[in-house]
Formats: sequence, structure tokens, C-alpha cells
Amino acid sequence: MTLPVRDRLQRPLGALRLSVTDRCNLRCHYCMPAEHYTWLPRAELLTFEELERLARAFVAAGVHKLRLTGGEPLLRQDLPALVARLAAIPGVTDLALTTNGTLLAEHAAALKAAGLHRITISCDTLQPERMRAFARHDRVADVVAGIDAAIAAGFAGLKLNTVAVRGVNDDELVALARFAHERGIEPRFIEYMDVGGATDWQPDAVVSRPEILARLGDAFGPLTPIARSADPHAPADRWRVPSGAVVGIVASTTAPFCRDCDRARLTADGTFFRCLYATDGVDLRTPLRAGDDAAMLTTMIRDAWSMRTDRGAEERASLPARGIFIPRDALRRDPHHEMHVRGG
Ligand code: GTP
Ligand code: 5AD
Ligand code: SF4
Repeated sequence: MTLPVRDRLQRPLGALRLSVTDRCNLRCHYCMPAEHYTWLPRAELLTFEELERLARAFVAAGVHKLRLTGGEPLLRQDLPALVARLAAIPGVTDLALTTNGTLLAEHAAALKAAGLHRITISCDTLQPERMRAFARHDRVADVVAGIDAAIAAGFAGLKLNTVAVRGVNDDELVALARFAHERGIEPRFIEYMDVGGATDWQPDAVVSRPEILARLGDAFGPLTPIARSADPHAPADRWRVPSGAVVGIVASTTAPFCRDCDRARLTADGTFFRCLYATDGVDLRTPLRAGDDAAMLTTMIRDAWSMRTDRGAEERASLPARGIFIPRDALRRDPHHEMHVRGG
């Protein structure tokens, strides 16, 4: 087993979020509130072969968990072929996908056959009109069909991720949890984050972990915290409701977990970011296309990680007043700051 490289704060490199496209077929308001976007140039998108080569270089530096993200990763043609390549890499113990679920019904069986281990579905509402207003498309029926197809394909350990936004879906958290529990899925509620792309973020719109817990507790009865043991780097805290079902909360805005963060991010054009909030990335596409071999790429990754001091969410939380992180004109100039480019 590879000894993972550690950063300046002694955090090991363990997980890689691999964005396979910056495109999305939804426009969730916390992620893509603008009318127009600057997209990554097509010629700069990594091929599956290139993605696999970089994934192998990250694994040689310590990564054992891989998660495919986007934009919407299922917009990338033939994604199961990439899954099969990644599943075959020795040392990958967990291979997961984060998707908005809209295209999952047609791809779930092929993803399973290709060797994907787990799926997390992002779903903020089950109300068609609400989804149309919030994500600019009503695809609720497709998302539900996608979830059911994933279950039918044999995926276990499904998760449903909901960003809680005041005035939008804070009255629907219990219904979303019930929907997930009925299907044996773990619901997780995420605090609205002031990341790049969230240019309409306001402190008042954040529904905090205590508030989420209170709403769930009122409906389900007392919640019992579950000890964090399985994965000390997991962003979610988990609770058990009296029926035995579990709910998770990712309190990334009010109680950030940077001190345990082992996640690297790779954008679809091969830029390596060491934090969701990082303003600078490391270009791995240029050395990759210049012919650098696996060992050289791994050295670049190890060197960059060993210098890492990022604790972006904690720094944001310590500000006396929190405004917009990256203004819209800066996002237009460099889309790498966008959440849909960084992979959520
Ligand atoms: P599991 O392996 O299933 O636990 O997945 P995960 O929780 O790593 O992945 P998921 O995509 O479900 O992440 C949940 C949410 O946590 C994301 O949508 C983000 O909102 C948030 N999140 C993920 N990574 C980071 C991070 O590095 N920093 C912060 N602040 N939030 C993050
Ligand atoms: N705050 C919290 N979560 C966000 N995501 C995207 N933007 C934000 C934000 N501003 C989440 C989505 C999805 C994942 C890819 O990133 O809900 O679950
Ligand atoms: Fe929504 Fe994800 Fe698409 Fe962003 S990338 S608009 S969060 S579905």
C-alpha cells in the first residue's frame, strides 16, 4: 500500500474528486445562478485515457477514494467506459459518483456493470414547480426514476444530498428524509456554502445544522449521534432517528471540517485544486500532454500536496462579515472558481 503524502497540517491525501465535465443540464440556484457562463475550451478537456493516467498518478501519491463529479458527470459520453478504467486501478478501494440523477435511469445498469461502487444523488426538492423555479427545469420524475433504476441495478449505500436553503426548501427537509428512508437511502443535508459560483449567497439563507436537527427531531423524535469511526475524513456527521434510519448533515458553512480534509480535486481540464475555496490550482494537463511519465506526475502531485496549508471554509467562517467570495466578473474571466467546474 502507498504511504500517502501529508500536507503542512499533517493531513494525508486520501480522496480525489474527478470532474469529467463542467457542463450541466440544471441550473441549481446555489451553484449556477447566472444567465451566461464561460465554459472550459473543449480541446482542453482530458480524454478518458488522460483521466486514467492522472488518476493513477494520484493513487500512487496516496489516493484510495475516487469520486466522479461534474457539472453533471452523466453528460459525458460513455461514462461507464471511464468507470471501468478507474475500477481496474489497484489501490482504489472506493469508486463513487455524484449526479443530479436526471440521466441516471438510462445509465444505472451500465455503471453497475462497469464496476461503480456507490452513487450519491443531489436532490433539493420533490416538488415539480419548486424544482422549475430553483433549478430552472422540472426533472423531478426523471430524478425519481433514476433513483429507482439505481436501486434496481443493485447499488447499495445510496445517498441523497440536499442543500438546505431558507425560503426554498427548508419546509421540505422532513419529506425528503422520508422519501430517502422509504427507499433505504441515507439522506444528507448540506449547509448552503459561499463557494465560487454561489454569487447570490447570503448568510440569512443558510439553514444551520442545529436548525436542521431541530426540524428533523420535531418530526422523527430524538436523534442519537453516531460516533465517527469508519472514516475520520468524511464531511457528514450522522444521527440515528428512533426508527433506526440514519440522517447525515454536512455543516460546511457553520462548522467547517478543514482540519480533517483529505480531498483533492481535479477539473475536467486537468487543473489540480487542494481546496474547494483555493484560488490557485496546479496545471497537470500541460506536463501530461508534454509526455511526463507517471512517476513525474506523481512527484508533482506529492510536492504540491506537501506544501498545502489550505483551510478555506474555516477561513471564511472566521471572517467578521461574509459577503460574496468570488464576484461574477471574476468567474467569467476564470471559470475554474465555479463549483460546477470544481465538482462540488
Ligand atoms: P462520501 O464518501 O459518501 O462521504 O462522500 P462525500 O461526502 O465526500 O461526497 P459528496 O459529494 O456527497 O459531498 C457532500 C457535500 O459536502 C458536497 O456536495 C459539498 O457540498 C460538501 N463538500 C465536499 N467536499 C468538501 C470540501 O472539501 N470542503 C467543504 N467545505 N465541503 C465539501
Ligand atoms: N452550497 C452547498 N452545496 C453546494 N453544491 C453546489 N453548490 C453548493 C453550495 N453553494 C453541492 C450540490 C451537489 C454537489 C455536487 O455540490 O448540492 O450535491
Ligand atoms: Fe445543480 Fe450540480 Fe448542476 Fe450545479 S452542477 S447546477 S449543483 S446539478
